[in-house]
Amino acid sequence: MGIKCVIAAGGLGTRLQGFRDNDKTKVLLEVNSIPMINQQINQLNQWGVEEFVIITNPNFDSLIREVTSQAFPDLIIKYAIQDNPKGISHAFSKAEQYIRTGDTVIFVLGDNFFEENLIKELDLNKFSDEGGCIIFTTKVTNPNEFGVASVDDLGNVTHIEEKPKQPKSNLAVVGLYIFDSLAMDNIKKLSPSSRGEYEITDLINIYINEKKCTNVEFGGWWVDAGTPDRIIELENLLT
Ligand code: G1P
Repeated sequence: MGIKCVIAAGGLGTRLQGFRDNDKTKVLLEVNSIPMINQQINQLNQWGVEEFVIITNPNFDSLIREVTSQAFPDLIIKYAIQDNPKGISHAFSKAEQYIRTGDTVIFVLGDNFFEENLIKELDLNKFSDEGGCIIFTTKVTNPNEFGVASVDDLGNVTHIEEKPKQPKSNLAVVGLYIFDSLAMDNIKKLSPSSRGEYEITDLINIYINEKKCTNVEFGGWWVDAGTPDRIIELENLLT
């Protein structure tokens, strides 16, 4: 049993093709001269995580292995390929071979960065005893662009919806999640959404229905670095 961090790094980042002559994949783009994937590992390593599983794109798997293993020789890093872009839960499912019963799994989207250590206050030992899922939210003015959560007074998540036209709250669900090891079985119960993807919000919904999903709301900055503007914003925030 342990704490493992799965990083979703399979998306090509079409909105970043050509930016600074980028002809590779989003996570290899340099952010302040360091490839984004290494910035991501640094972020989680600063939060105390030492074991990683990186989900890669088939065309860039060997390059991502090279860049990460050279930069972090002392960390345990495993790799799995996401053969088709079938959604975030689909990417997550590729980590199955490395997840053991009782593991606590931190799942992060490779392009999501945070001002604060969001797991600092959490008792992950207690989490591993009780299981469930934890999501992280922050108040935004454009919730329709994200997963949106409704939460009760005790911090239990009562509803989650992917990019709703009429959001029930202004709490955006950011690209960082904590799951028990049952997530790997729960993913197998999912069906593709109307856009043909295995959605992360549908996985979270299974936990909500079991009353096992809690929310941590935070206030510091959050950058979802999927466009040139957001990359530049991130570079300024990280310096
Ligand atoms: C994904 C998730 C969404 C979440 C967002 C955070 O959306 O599906 O629930 O709010 O990441 O960055 P995407 O940015 O891939 O459209």
